[in-house]
Amino acid sequence: ETGAFTYDPGFTSTASCESALTYIDGDAGILLHRGYPIDQLAEKSSFMEVAYLLINGELPTGDELDKFSNTITRHTMLHEQLATFYRGFRRDAHPMAIMCGVVGALSAFYHDSTDIADPLQRMIAIHRLIAKMPTIAAMAYKYSVGQPFVYPNNDLSYTANFLRMTFSVPAEEYVVDPIIVDAMDKIFILHADHEQNASTSTVRLAGSSGANPFACIAAGIACLWGPAHGGANEAALNMLREIGTVEKIPEYIARAKNKDDPFRLMGFGHRVYKNFDPRAKVMQKTAADVLNKLGVTDPIFDVARELEQIALKDDYFIEKKLYPNVDFYSGVILSAIGFPTSMFTVLFALARTVGWVAQWNEMISDPAQKIGRPRQLYVGPTQRDYLPVGDR
Ligand code: SDX
Repeated sequence: ETGAFTYDPGFTSTASCESALTYIDGDAGILLHRGYPIDQLAEKSSFMEVAYLLINGELPTGDELDKFSNTITRHTMLHEQLATFYRGFRRDAHPMAIMCGVVGALSAFYHDSTDIADPLQRMIAIHRLIAKMPTIAAMAYKYSVGQPFVYPNNDLSYTANFLRMTFSVPAEEYVVDPIIVDAMDKIFILHADHEQNASTSTVRLAGSSGANPFACIAAGIACLWGPAHGGANEAALNMLREIGTVEKIPEYIARAKNKDDPFRLMGFGHRVYKNFDPRAKVMQKTAADVLNKLGVTDPIFDVARELEQIALKDDYFIEKKLYPNVDFYSGVILSAIGFPTSMFTVLFALARTVGWVAQWNEMISDPAQKIGRPRQLYVGPTQRDYLPVGDR
């Protein structure tokens, strides 16, 4: 009596919304944000510019960019009471757990002040989220290593400020290396948005009920954490370290192909890209550049490149169209910068916040917006009568 609906596990062929943000052609390996190719944005633009583009639809003029960056800078501080919230976590808590909790807790600080029907208030929530994420991420790191929290410095760029809050200590002057700032900014751009991936769909679904945006982003962070999604960057680097040497690659390739072995090549395969992930290409090049410029030699990078070469010639990976994705090479760069693997997915979340808030805002602004409510195919028992416990 409900009419017909389509069974589509994993939503492989269901469009859940209309969106003007991001276009992907998975067969051609194309990714465009508001029409601009990802490689051009990564090479020529900045993360703040891409954030503006995704949220507002057009690249900013110089004045618009200054104004936007200043607005973001103005919101970088966290309410001081949140420091107490951090102290409630175990010292060895995973920084993703901390981030998920702290961002969710922000909804308590900005609850009454966020009327999502008002576009202006939505924009303030968007600015707050983008601005506070680096502070939250850096504090999660500081807490885990037992160092004091570092407050934001409004004279620095978004990315330089984040690096300073993460790596500086009160006892020493900290000079931000422009090579690292550039690399980090590029990594943020490459992660900024990716249409209706699992975490973005989670944010939209949570937001479709009219929930507080800070709580919706916490839901997105929870979804991103899984190793099949954003958690793959941490898992990929752990895997590369475990493989350790080029000689051991065939053994792991054989395991990835074995259906009885749960092992999968982390950072490989994608639901949409069946040719290559254009972000992985930029990431590989960036990894080579950064290691070269920093004078770092990391055998893990050789293992990664060799693994890619061997897999791309293997019939299993060719037939299943499995290529390195965005998470395959990012860890090599993040390691060289000095991040522990547990921070990798936090950095993904920081950058993806831009996409999440832009998609959330697009959804709320859409007159066709409805609460998300998938149906199901019921496979349980048919109607039966209740028996008292003694009669069962
Ligand atoms: C991200 O969606 C997005 O846009 C996500 C993302 C974003 O920016 O938001 O791009 C970020 O999440 C990147 C993906 C990170 N995950 C990983 O790197 C984890 C390893 N990859 C896989 O688990 C998998 O490839 C997924 C999750 C990425 C895609 O899953 P699908 O589309 O559901 O495909 P599948 O798991 O059904 O795989 C199809 C086949 C299967 O074999 P068969 O059952 O058909 O015989 O390919 C095999 C899989 O077993 N396969 C792999 C493999 N990935 C898929 N075999 C070995 N190693 C792998 N990595």
